Amino acid sequence: MRVLADTAAAELAPTISRIVAAVSDRVPSRRALSRLGGLGACARDSFPLDDGLPSVTLDDLGWPQSRLDFVRTRLRAGNVVVIGRFDQDGFLLSDFEPVNGVPNVSADEYVPRARYALELVAMKDERIGVRKSYAGKRAPMLREMLALLELGAAGCSVPTLLAADVSVPSLTMSFVPGEVLREALVRQGAQLRDRDLHENPAWRGLTLEQIRLGRVIDARSRLRQVVDDSFTEDLFGLLRTIHRVGFCRLDIKYGNIVINERTGKPVLLDLENAIHFGAAKWLSRPMKDYDIDQFNVHFNDDRLTRRRLRKAIECRESSTHARTYAPSYVGSGLRIGQVTNLSAGYGRWQYLLRRHLPPWKDKTVLDLGANNAYYCLEMLRDGAASAVALEMDAEVITEGQFIKKAFEWCDDRTYNLAYTHANIADLPKLNLGAFDIVMALCSLYYLDDSAIIRVVQHVCDITQCFVVQCNTERDIGRASSDTYRKASLEYTVALLSDNGFPVVKIVAPMGYERPLVIGRKLES
Ligand SMILES: C[S@@+](CC[C@H](N)C(=O)[O-])C[C@H]1O[C@@H](n2cnc3c(N)ncnc32)[C@H](O)[C@@H]1O
Repeated sequence: MRVLADTAAAELAPTISRIVAAVSDRVPSRRALSRLGGLGACARDSFPLDDGLPSVTLDDLGWPQSRLDFVRTRLRAGNVVVIGRFDQDGFLLSDFEPVNGVPNVSADEYVPRARYALELVAMKDERIGVRKSYAGKRAPMLREMLALLELGAAGCSVPTLLAADVSVPSLTMSFVPGEVLREALVRQGAQLRDRDLHENPAWRGLTLEQIRLGRVIDARSRLRQVVDDSFTEDLFGLLRTIHRVGFCRLDIKYGNIVINERTGKPVLLDLENAIHFGAAKWLSRPMKDYDIDQFNVHFNDDRLTRRRLRKAIECRESSTHARTYAPSYVGSGLRIGQVTNLSAGYGRWQYLLRRHLPPWKDKTVLDLGANNAYYCLEMLRDGAASAVALEMDAEVITEGQFIKKAFEWCDDRTYNLAYTHANIADLPKLNLGAFDIVMALCSLYYLDDSAIIRVVQHVCDITQCFVVQCNTERDIGRASSDTYRKASLEYTVALLSDNGFPVVKIVAPMGYERPLVIGRKLES
């Protein structure tokens, strides 16, 4: 067996890119495969487990000393000792003793696996691994190898690659201690084992797909007895991270999820169908959504997919109450509201804010009168560390929470955005802490003069940089004519320079009625 090398992911990067090239075609070309043959050249040791937890070793099997000695002697003579074979339902037919924590099966009850053979093996260094043989097919082996390497390097909860043999082909992955979610559900009465497929008379006459769905619907009603919300949340987080790293077409089902006995967290198995889309991110969206659909079906959840999002947007737009002050472009061809308007939302972001707001990468942001906080989301999308959106209208906060979810779906990530339902005038009492940037875009002028001054003086205590947007448009039917004065450029410039922000920069494109005033405490 060619043992794959360990060391740093960096050392493997050229290898990985060769594999990417090879597996991006469903069936790798002969040339690509022969180039991959060079993998063995980088072989030295095996991969260390990168989850910070010790691997499962011979000593963890719960075997008597004499048996361990016997296996050690055989390991000294060769690279690997086969401990046993897994069957279709994940039961182990052991060549030796039963193994701690692994459901065992006798030779009579063994149900052969329908697809790839799985063996439990002891490696030369005494770590316990699971060796998967791909029935002579190299494409699934290469796909799974690439996924394990890249996802492992990205810190995802997947087994660690211990060894690879391109010629068989086979991979050996770390054995994850813990119960497979399917078995945990079976203990609660779910009929998820393939060996029980023909036992249930209620399933007679149904197609395999109908039976699969029926079994899942029954099993998911028992999930609460087995895992809690944080497990499901962790699993969705794992799915999202895997998508962000660029892989999709995961086989989400109870039999492919292990509840790690040491952390209580999910570990995802069986990545032989996972594909990496690299830069062509948009191509992978339907497949990512298929993964999310499978997650929703198995965990009775309603995480967004493009179809769900489009439906929700259509529902919002057809509702007579829906009004979107700040339209947003989500991505994947989906928009919320009229994005052609330059004075608010997407249009204002593209025309002015994206180019003129102070640098926000890794910065913390507070947005006063944020409405749906669309600008905060764009800043987070582009690297801001966190944002707090203060807004007094609960309805637009709900809209913002929806937009946040839409962005998170599109970008396969979670954004650190918190909404605070409050009045800007109460900011001095709120104890929100300090921020790198505070913004009040077309909002401060709704307060009265004395409240405005109190707020600006407080902002001076919590930031170095305050961005205020004016609105010089006239005759737009304001409730109070005095608002035109407080929304003017002159008023705003004087306000900032007199109340702690002596360095003032004005961004006022000709003919554009929403100039920006950027106040700083110090020249920077
Ligand atoms: C004209 S919109 C501007 C929204 C957003 N900053 C932007 O530029 O797209 C003003 C927003 O400020 C909010 N607002 C007005 N007065 C406020 C107050 N006293 N406290 C909190 N929010 C306020 C409104 O509910 C509205 O969402």
